[in-house]
Amino acid sequence: MSDPSAKTAASATTPEASTAASADATTATPAAAPKSPVSTPLSTPLLAAQKATATTSADTPPSAALAETTETTAPTDAPTPAAEDPDILPASHWTQAAQVNGSDEDSSYGDDIISSTASLSSSILDYRTLHGRTFHSQRGNAESWNPNDTQHNESMEILHHASTLMQGGKLFLAPLGDNVQNVLDVGCGPGIWAIDFADQYPGAEVVGVDVSPTQPQWIPPNLKFEHDDVSQPWTYKPDTFDYIHMRWLVGNIEDWYELFKEIFRALKPGGYFESKESSAIITSDDGTVTEDSALSQWGKVFNQAGKKWGRSFLIVEDDIQRKAMEAAGFVDIKEYPFKAPLGTWPADEKMQELGQFLQLALYQDIEGFVVKTWSAIMGWSIEEIQIYAAHLRRELRSRTIHPYYIQKVVIGRKPDVGEVPP
Ligand SMILES: C[S@@+](CC[C@H](N)C(=O)[O-])C[C@H]1O[C@@H](n2cnc3c(N)ncnc32)[C@H](O)[C@@H]1O
Repeated sequence: MSDPSAKTAASATTPEASTAASADATTATPAAAPKSPVSTPLSTPLLAAQKATATTSADTPPSAALAETTETTAPTDAPTPAAEDPDILPASHWTQAAQVNGSDEDSSYGDDIISSTASLSSSILDYRTLHGRTFHSQRGNAESWNPNDTQHNESMEILHHASTLMQGGKLFLAPLGDNVQNVLDVGCGPGIWAIDFADQYPGAEVVGVDVSPTQPQWIPPNLKFEHDDVSQPWTYKPDTFDYIHMRWLVGNIEDWYELFKEIFRALKPGGYFESKESSAIITSDDGTVTEDSALSQWGKVFNQAGKKWGRSFLIVEDDIQRKAMEAAGFVDIKEYPFKAPLGTWPADEKMQELGQFLQLALYQDIEGFVVKTWSAIMGWSIEEIQIYAAHLRRELRSRTIHPYYIQKVVIGRKPDVGEVPP
């Protein structure tokens, strides 16, 4: 990252972005409650973790996330390369399935596949565009798969709410005392976590850093946003922050070990680092997520895209958070795996509420989540993506499928001065 002192005073950044993708935006609709809530999966050890019980050993959960592009448009008629993993269905599978299952008039698809794309003029916004979605401009080595437009930021904000619900109403799980002075949120996205933290700790100075300048202008006075590529060498002075938070950077980072070293160096001795990541693997405990379902294919395609892209989506599965913390020198490392249900199928009321928001966040912007990695990296056409998204929406609306994925928080402490790590 560049020298923070050289950054533009960041507190008020440009929220523009967005008009972008809205042309094909779908109105998010929470799924209806299932008739028969399912209780089985909630009895797994992960539920215990959901109640914020720390584990010190890594559970072995499924996997996570995505990557980006520099094109302004992607070909829509190029042949889709054959899937290299036999478990991955080719993109053409979904268009053929659409023909078999129903025509465009099929009410189960509704408007999902009848969408248009709108391209943004780069003379209006300095963002890169792909199929009408906007992405951050060229900066360092950053290559985020997340669009930075309103539709995607709204999904992020719904996910933020769900994340807090998942953590029993807590913004963070690190054992912070009352005297937190300097806080950094790495890859802060639309900035909602940093805003909530700054509100909760008015005595702390909070910085949110992201490659995209899409945060709001009306923010707490003790918060500022900076714009930089966090995968470049950091120039924050050593021993600056009491607490560093990083959430959902999966699929965005080439070298997690280097990044965690920078975080370690920037923390004060005794300071905490909290990393929350998501798996991309969507599964079920009762076999209702079948191998050839759109839900199951989600993680498989993402994980292969991550391998091709050199930005892994297998952070949770490969236990990278813990390994990179250990390598950087963190101690007292604790892991908190969470089960993240999609939909209102769980019997437990809190899990039902959580599942409703997680489902809504995905439903809100399926195309935005996949467009960069699946088109630019995996070679899917936008039509194939839209038809796949229609299949996924249909499965998400189903009352008989009980999908979930894993999110994992890992917390480490930088040793105090003179402390000898065990
Ligand atoms: C999935 S979003 C998560 C946003 C936020 N952490 C949250 O919890 O809502 C990932 C964010 O990481 C940012 N990002 C990706 N690569 C980055 C990089 N190299 N440097 C800075 N930010 C990056 C993206 O711009 C995007 O806002």
